[in-house]
Amino acid sequence: MKINRKNFLKIAGLAGAGMIVKTGQAGKNEPFQNSHSQKFNMHGYAAPKLEKVRIGFIGVGSRGGGHVTRFNRIEGVEVKAICDLVPERVKDAVDSVKSAVNKPDSYTGSENAWKKLCEREDIDLIITATPWALHVPIALYAMEQGKHVGIEVPAAKTIEECWQMVETSERTRKHCMMLANSAYGDFNILTLNLAREGFFGEIVHGEGTYIHDRVSNTESRWVRDKNNNNWFGFRPWRLKENIKRNGNIYPTHGLGTVCQAMDLNYGDQMDYMVSISSNDFTMADKMKENAKMDDFYKPYVGLNFRGNMNTSIIRTHKGRTIMLQHDISSPRPDVRFNIISGTKGIAQKYPHPAVATSHDGWLPENEFNAVVEKYTPEINKKVGAMSKEIGGHGGVDFMMAWRLIDCLRNGIPLDMDVYDAALWSSIAALSEWSVAHDGNPVKVPDFTSGAWRTNKRNMDITLQKGGNTKLAER
Ligand SMILES: NC(=O)c1ccc[n+]([C@@H]2O[C@H](COP(=O)([O-])OP(=O)(O)OC[C@H]3O[C@@H](n4cnc5c(N)ncnc54)[C@H](O)[C@@H]3O)[C@@H](O)[C@H]2O)c1
Repeated sequence: MKINRKNFLKIAGLAGAGMIVKTGQAGKNEPFQNSHSQKFNMHGYAAPKLEKVRIGFIGVGSRGGGHVTRFNRIEGVEVKAICDLVPERVKDAVDSVKSAVNKPDSYTGSENAWKKLCEREDIDLIITATPWALHVPIALYAMEQGKHVGIEVPAAKTIEECWQMVETSERTRKHCMMLANSAYGDFNILTLNLAREGFFGEIVHGEGTYIHDRVSNTESRWVRDKNNNNWFGFRPWRLKENIKRNGNIYPTHGLGTVCQAMDLNYGDQMDYMVSISSNDFTMADKMKENAKMDDFYKPYVGLNFRGNMNTSIIRTHKGRTIMLQHDISSPRPDVRFNIISGTKGIAQKYPHPAVATSHDGWLPENEFNAVVEKYTPEINKKVGAMSKEIGGHGGVDFMMAWRLIDCLRNGIPLDMDVYDAALWSSIAALSEWSVAHDGNPVKVPDFTSGAWRTNKRNMDITLQKGGNTKLAER
């Protein structure tokens, strides 16, 4: 059955209720296909040059506060306005903007104060780092008001939201970039260059994960510190996302570099995926344990948390496979983007960066260093040291911010566009669907509407254009 946008919502509802027919044939479950036809291709789109990039920030909690200070260090940036529900956070962020010529204006005190910020005429770019449910409403409104937008990860929660981002970006011709910082890690960029230079031969398989223990680690991230209300990075809104949403709800950190190495959206495309979750063996127990110390947790006792480990497997049209995993609640060391494997070689990031070209073993240190020396691309040579100096997850956050501003100031396409934001984010909703249907395969929507066959490559790590933006004198 060909499913259009109108009845997709109806069918998605049936799917949620477990009533969709299971065919058992790969690729036959299409609850999320869409009749969208591309009106304008935002891939490779270069917006008119901006000499100055005037920014408004929405959501300045633990992540957004850091964005303000990092973007403010880049030449040509003017921080115009800052919005958060919590007035103290706005004040701290405003105070952190050291260029005292014009202090940014504050927006706070109401759920919708961000709309007023988006409506200002003297803003070019909105950076949003709010809870997930607000990402797309803010992005859509910002683009409608003529602003480019940078959205934290994951950009969207549902497939419908993914399509809304695509449609709005195409119609308004405003950039909609997901702030996928992980793609700028040293080893990620090296791996991408190795892929492009043919080190792996034909890429066959990639693996990306978000294995990041937030339940049992020494910082006890799910335990509220009653004295200062510090959640150590895990906020109540994020705790709630982990109830009932059974799937890979945070897929983008592991996936980005794999998609870029495989040229997904510009040369190959995801076809279908399957996803399976374990039971929850730790999170519900953690709520019971916490509730003994703090009444806040009592409403969470006895609720269904998603399974600890989710494993998803994606197949592309060219026949490659991707394995993604998500587990934030088992006591084990971190793993993010991990493997690219091809007909001639393999790169693996964890437990430590390594490459190999045969079954004989990982290259010894001197040969590995020679590979790094030969294949480190221009972007790292040019801004690697500056990024490490300014920092943010070891520099990746600054490099992402720098590159976004450098592209806007030079009027060149961004490294990641709205199709990347939609595709990478969509895995969350697709995995939830597959998990709810015993791991049945589900078609991945093609957000490029077929343009992936002819789109040219994104993510210019060789800095063919631009690259001239410096640190600001402040
Ligand atoms: N890329 C990364 O490495 C990375 C790391 C951490 C978080 N994140 C992402 O950043 C985002 C924010 O995460 P966080 O950890 O900073 O959460 P947080 O709770 O610390 O910050 C969210 C902020 O949004 C504000 N907010 C909520 N509703 C609002 C509204 N209606 N108007 C204005 N402000 C509002 C909150 O008051 C809070 O200050 C999430 O999307 C998360 O996934 C990304």
